[in-house]
This record gives sequence, structure tokens and C-alpha cells, in this order.
Amino acid sequence: MKLTMKRCISTNFKFSNFLFILLSGLFVSCGNLQKKDRYKQDSNTPSENAISREKIDSVFEVASNNYLYLSSKLEEGEFPKTFYLKENKFETTVSNAWISGFYPATLLNLYESTGKDTLRKLAENMLGHLKKEAFNTSTHDLGFIMYSSFGKANRIEPKSEYQDILMQSAKSLSTRYNDTVKAIRSWNSAPWNKAGDDDFAVIIDNMMNLELLLWATKYSGDSTYYKIAVNHAKTTIENHFRKDYSTYHEVIYKEATGKVKTKITVQGYADESSWARGQAWGLYGFTMIYRETNQKKFLEQAKAIADFIINNPNLPDDKIPYWDFNAGNIPDALRDSSSAAIMASALIELSWLTQNQHYFKTAEKILNTLISNEYLANETELAGFILKHGIGNMPGNTEVDVPLTYGDYYLIEALKKYQNYNNSLKVDLFSKT
Ligand code: GLY
Repeated sequence: MKLTMKRCISTNFKFSNFLFILLSGLFVSCGNLQKKDRYKQDSNTPSENAISREKIDSVFEVASNNYLYLSSKLEEGEFPKTFYLKENKFETTVSNAWISGFYPATLLNLYESTGKDTLRKLAENMLGHLKKEAFNTSTHDLGFIMYSSFGKANRIEPKSEYQDILMQSAKSLSTRYNDTVKAIRSWNSAPWNKAGDDDFAVIIDNMMNLELLLWATKYSGDSTYYKIAVNHAKTTIENHFRKDYSTYHEVIYKEATGKVKTKITVQGYADESSWARGQAWGLYGFTMIYRETNQKKFLEQAKAIADFIINNPNLPDDKIPYWDFNAGNIPDALRDSSSAAIMASALIELSWLTQNQHYFKTAEKILNTLISNEYLANETELAGFILKHGIGNMPGNTEVDVPLTYGDYYLIEALKKYQNYNNSLKVDLFSKT
């Protein structure tokens, strides 16, 4: 139900002669709604690619059945990782892996969309296995791990237990901040022979962990977390991006001085190439931090990254990127559905924030492709995972052309955002507190 002022008036005009008082009330309430909602869009442009609410609900139904099946394959305390179809090999991981939070988070998203209580119970059980990670100071991935999962649980049903866990997670993540570098340390050592003792490694992915810190300041009133997040984002703008707004995967600083030592890739095709998921993390990260801080600098960054992606000559017509925008064997290079899902989720929100329909249309195109049979797996096809054709780490030759829990997570999140956008609802997924 799109309640623009124009539509409110025209829809109700025919009743006005008879129901003047009612119309006046409606008029006032439409006006108030418009003033209150800064995300309000005025888009009545029907799209030929529009995905109906019923279609998305049917995807949620398939996905929830998939995840019920997936849950039956897990031993107590195991977190799903991927499935290798050729080898018929189901791989799991442990609670401190960067991907561990996505499984309970997707269960919660699907519970919210389908009302199936079994999904919520499964998620709660996994949260029990996850909560110890709140004290983990050896990883920068606590935003991925804890905010996707406990953050979501707390939005569905706020509880002091969840809030304490999130606050502890934010404290643990903050221990990795260095005020000389003005960034949060990502990996504990730089890779391979490119490392030195004084190296301080930051990967673009780290932008995604800042949302936990921004939540922590909002919840506690302690601005320390906000300042760390904003400093990290500003340092990232300064050093990670090239002139065309593509991002390096990893920047290695000298810890003692904060000076940049080198810029490299670990998961991309080459140091100077544009690894698709890195671009997606940057897009999502800066869109998110603009939403949370309202700082124009971050919005400009998000828009420039979006333009790099959308206008890239190597982005295929169906908008599912190759695993690296500069992969050597384009057009035969493999696609990465996880990057596409992250981009779709970020672009819907960026469109909402800017009222730029172009971002929305690109996201719509991505989602149309991802929910086609080519990308959407049915219940048992891939051990219960939802999204086919993800690339975890091509140079490491692991998780190549497989389903990934984060691909599943961002697809479901993007579809929920899409539904909300089309209903002009500024709800949960657009304001994560
Ligand atoms: N570290 C997150 C990723 O592989 O994208």
C-alpha cells in the first residue's frame, strides 16, 4: 500500500462529498506520514520485472523447507558451511568461523516471514552455541557473527540477555582498534610472505562489522563505539579505494606509524583487480554506515561504489557478477551469487535512502535472476542450502561454485527488503535497532 499524498487524495476523492470528516482525517494522516518518513518514495512506476509478494512468499516457503532439511543434516553444535555436489560432501564449521552467525540469522528471517515456529526454535538452539563468541578478541568478524544473529534475535524479541551479549561483542571487537592506524585490525597477520612483524592488516570486509559498534553506541550511549566505527570507515575511504571507486581487498599498514605499506588481494584475481565480494562489502558497508550516521561522505562513497558496479562493462546483463570483475577468463569466468545477493540487498537500501530508482531496478534484476531455477536450489538438491553458484575463495580453490550460508542470508534479507520497499514500509530491515 503506497500512501503518497497524491494517491491518498485521488483514491479517496470520490468519497469526499459524503465523508468529508473522514477525508479530512485521512488527509492529515497522509501528510503526517509523509513528513515523518524520510525514506518515503514516490515511485508509482510499475516495473515489468516486478516480483510479486506471492512469488517472494513462495521463495520463503521453499527456503524454509530447505533450511528444515539442512538442520536435519547437522550434528548438535555444528554450523553449516557448504555442499560439494560432485563429491556429495556436506561441510560444516564451528562457532568462531566468520560465517557461523548466518545460519541462525537466516532461520530467524525465515521464521519472521513464514511464522514457522520450528525455525525460531532451531535458531535459538544455535544462538546457545554461538554466545561464547562474544568474548572472542581474536577476530574482526564479530559483526558478521554476532550482529547478524543476536542483533536479529533482539529485534524480533528484545531481551537483556541478547543485549548483554551484543554489548560484550562490541567490547571485544573494539579491542582490535588501533588509534594510530585509526582502524580495526582484520587479520592477525598479513598473508604469506607479504607479511612483516609490524603489519596491521585491514580488509574491506571489515566495513560490515561496524554495524555492531553503531548499535552499541545507540544502546549504551557510549560514543566510543561510534567513533571507532566512523574512524575506521574514514580510513577505509582514504586508503582502500582506487580513483574509479573500486576497492582493494586488503590494505596493510605499519602498525607503529599508521602508514600504508602495501595493497593486495587474498581472495581476488590479482592485487589490482576488483574482487566481486569486496566491492559488495564496500557497497553494503557504506550504505549501512550512512543510514546509521547520516554523514554525507559515506553516502557519496556508497553511490560511487554502486556506480562502479552497475556501470562496469564486465557486469553481465543478468547482473550476477563474475567472481572478480577482472577475472582472467571473462566471459567464461564463474559467477559469484553471494556477491550478487549482497549487492541486491545494499542497492535496495541505497535506492530507499536516495530515492534513486536505478539502484532498485538493478537489485530487482539481480533478484529475478537469483530466484530463477538456475540459482535457487530446492529442498534436497544442495543439502538444504538455498542459493547455488557461490564462490568462497577462488585462489585458495575452496568453495568454488557451491552454496554458501552468506549467499543464502543476503538473498533472504534482500527479498525481505524488496517486499518492504514495495510496501513503503520503513521497518526492521532498514533500521536495525
Ligand atoms: N571474509 C569474508 C569473505 O570471504 O567475503
